[in-house]
Amino acid sequence: MGLFQAIITIVVFSCSYLAHANGNGFELRRQEIGCNMYQGKWIFDNSYPLYNSSACPFIRKEFDCIKYGRPDHLYLKYRWRPSNCQLPRFNGQSFLKRFKGKKVMFIGDSLSLNFWQSLICMLHAAVPNSNIISQVLNNSTISSITFQDYDVSVMLFRSHYLVDIDEESIGRVLNLNSMRNGNLWKDIDVLVFNTWLWWYRKGPKQQWDYLKVEGKIVKDMDRMVAFRTALTTWAKWVDSNVDTKRTKVIFQGVSPSHYNGADWNEPGVKNCMKETKPFAGSVYPVGLPEASYVIREVISSIKKPVHLLDVTALSQFRKDAHPSSYNGVKRMDCTHWCVAGLTDTWNELLYAALIA
Ligand SMILES: *[C@@H]1O[C@H](CO)[C@@H](O)[C@H](O)[C@H]1NC(C)=O
Ligand SMILES: *[C@@H]1O[C@H](CO)[C@@H](O)[C@H](O)[C@H]1NC(C)=O
Ligand SMILES: *[C@@H]1O[C@H](CO)[C@@H](O)[C@H](O)[C@H]1NC(C)=O
Repeated sequence: MGLFQAIITIVVFSCSYLAHANGNGFELRRQEIGCNMYQGKWIFDNSYPLYNSSACPFIRKEFDCIKYGRPDHLYLKYRWRPSNCQLPRFNGQSFLKRFKGKKVMFIGDSLSLNFWQSLICMLHAAVPNSNIISQVLNNSTISSITFQDYDVSVMLFRSHYLVDIDEESIGRVLNLNSMRNGNLWKDIDVLVFNTWLWWYRKGPKQQWDYLKVEGKIVKDMDRMVAFRTALTTWAKWVDSNVDTKRTKVIFQGVSPSHYNGADWNEPGVKNCMKETKPFAGSVYPVGLPEASYVIREVISSIKKPVHLLDVTALSQFRKDAHPSSYNGVKRMDCTHWCVAGLTDTWNELLYAALIA
């Protein structure tokens, strides 16, 4: 996709935002912020990170880079500065007060888990001595952290594809047109969706044996078409089932990985192991992934207000922010992100989108 086409897409996208502005005001708020928060740059800020990760009791071994010996700490010291406005500084106490009695749910794959863990640490850091209950619900599909003194639950619903996987006699069938779990989601106050990482996985990592589309069973199909179809199922569900006057709907953009140095003009580099600084240029060489255009198109087809948390481009610059080998799973990981780290910025953007 060329730059020109990308610009067209962005323009079309902002028009669709305007078209939504007379909904319940949720999109209007983004207009009031007066700028595109997702356009800007990373700047050094010594007041970061926002919390001490060693004091956060919730970080899993996959993301706890400091605990597993990451020696360089510069990656913790960057703040995202939008070009035309200020991002409000995250305030955990006012988040908890504002969402008193409410539930926030992240729904998706391990990148949702990554995002969820960062929010929990940010809130915990604001009220370290409050009562917090951690629960696993509904056959381990839901993990929930409740800040009891504020009656706020921050939940995670694990789902690789959002749409259903049915156990049938022929095997596991990924049904691109059905999303039964929507019944468990629709009454939650804030929903943050994500799916992408698993759509191209094949072999033992593939979580299904067949696909079902429009009632037909197939062994495989173009994965981008499958992704678009599932996302469209989700989009239709939002339009017909979610009361967006009550429930805020967010879609988390594609999270980029860093295994191919050619993406950032370092051909031959095969992972993020030696990366200690963000990409220095202002345009990321490889451009946006195709999936991010699919997401924009599908979201712009939704009549109800849905906010795209458009973290893809700003995260592409952060080749330095992955765990690499500094995790407790002994695997090179340039897909997920250290906590503390980049996902804290995603939460600052989420906070801005929710409160503005
Ligand atoms: C971070 O928290 C740990 C564990 O509570 C503590 O030992 C350490 O001194 C803290 N570091 C800073 C910089 O506050
Ligand atoms: C939990 O799993 C059991 C056995 O698979 C199933 O019968 C039950 O309906 C599940 N409960 C929920 C809440 O999903
Ligand atoms: C757990 O599953 C039950 C039965 O399907 C449902 O009524 C309940 O709302 C679910 N809990 C959550 C937190 O989604």
